[in-house]
Amino acid sequence: MGITDSKLFVRKPVEQLVQETKQRGEELKRDVGALDLTALGIGAIIGTGIFVIIGEAIGLSGPAIILAFVLAGVTCIFSALSYAELASTIPISGSAYTYGYATLGEFAAWIIGWDLLIEYGLGVATVAVGWGEYLSALFADLFSFSLPDAIALAPGEGGVVNLPAVLLIAAITALLIYGVRETARANAIMVVIKIGILLVFIALGLTAFDGGNMTPFAPEGFPGIESAAALIFFAYIGFDAVSTSGEEAKNPGRDLPIAIVGSLVFATILYIIVATVAVGTLPADQLAGAPAPLATALSEGSGLQWGATLISFGALIAITSVVLTLFYGQTRVAFSMSRDGLLPRGLAKLTARKTPIVLTLLFGALSAVLAALLPLSELAELVNIGTLFAFLIVNLGVIILRRTQPDLKRGFRVPFSPVFPLIGAALCIYLMTKLPIVTWERFGIWMGIGVLIYVFYGRRHSLARRGTTAEAESNAG
Ligand code: ALA
Repeated sequence: MGITDSKLFVRKPVEQLVQETKQRGEELKRDVGALDLTALGIGAIIGTGIFVIIGEAIGLSGPAIILAFVLAGVTCIFSALSYAELASTIPISGSAYTYGYATLGEFAAWIIGWDLLIEYGLGVATVAVGWGEYLSALFADLFSFSLPDAIALAPGEGGVVNLPAVLLIAAITALLIYGVRETARANAIMVVIKIGILLVFIALGLTAFDGGNMTPFAPEGFPGIESAAALIFFAYIGFDAVSTSGEEAKNPGRDLPIAIVGSLVFATILYIIVATVAVGTLPADQLAGAPAPLATALSEGSGLQWGATLISFGALIAITSVVLTLFYGQTRVAFSMSRDGLLPRGLAKLTARKTPIVLTLLFGALSAVLAALLPLSELAELVNIGTLFAFLIVNLGVIILRRTQPDLKRGFRVPFSPVFPLIGAALCIYLMTKLPIVTWERFGIWMGIGVLIYVFYGRRHSLARRGTTAEAESNAG
């Protein structure tokens, strides 16, 4: 079977997707409302990007980081509208993977699913590493005690294993297995705390705000702003994770669009204000590359050591909720893929409380290994390219589904389609081109491995190709 294999493009009509999940005992539990979903979005968005990576991005752009946040935010808004339309039309676990199955066919769906696994899997590892950095900062502040490098840093950074990151992932794995309602509740509490702490940062930072810190505004010119935008894009990732919960939403047609667009708009406004305050509080060269830049802004800029300690605490909470929500997203995408037979079907096994236990344990272990051994900055760029690729497909998916199935019931429609989705797609490609070559190479290798797995495994085991469904298969024994 080569390129002539017509089943490469086998699609699952939206009605079939919805019907199948209803028929199976494998359906997830519809237990989450609009507010929880918005909290899920904010939970996934606000974390390492604004608390840690902002420092590195300021190093690229200077105070013009404010414009980098605007550029990355605008890119995300267009994609969020497309996510909102598809999520309201195809409210099934699996996000862009499932949308790909409905619009572009199985091979493309597999590629997107594989891509999402890297996005969420590496995302979890990346943010867990950032968590370890803030934990060290907090220990140093409170107890004048630093964790030994050997158990606090990755091998590339002078340590042996990043133990805090591993322990965090282990704890969250346990919570996710326990239940989705408990997960949502824990997340909602953490979201309130992290928003509160960013508001405190704004208030305290403003006391030392000095417009003079803003000049020179863009020392590296527009190219610096573009590179910073491609990096700080990381801070926005997560609103898409809302769509992975399509199958657990009580009223998906209405609530998913509200949560996807709402969480992103909220985060964008908050980020722009926080970035403005940060670069107004301390000169950019002192923020650039600081491991805990917002805490540094308060301790060095405002002279408020207690404020810095509070920020470190807030960062820990913020990042915990990101790990929780991205990890949740990853298990839901993988769940859909194994339910369709593209990954081993045994992985889709659910507990009595309807959580996918095997997948959660497996990905918990994989993410913990990655987090234990890899440094942060390079991970973030790899996550970005994977995410931008998924966004690109989702934008195109809206245009395709409007043509192939114009009469489907859509809870939300992107305005001015196809113009808005096309702008969204173009912006994704544009930011992808601003990432380093080495990121493209790693991404290419990962996707190459994905193609091989599809050829040797998924293609043979796909239920859609065999013209069967999970239900028929389990009935057959
Ligand atoms: N947006 C998430 C973060 O910044 C991934 O941590």
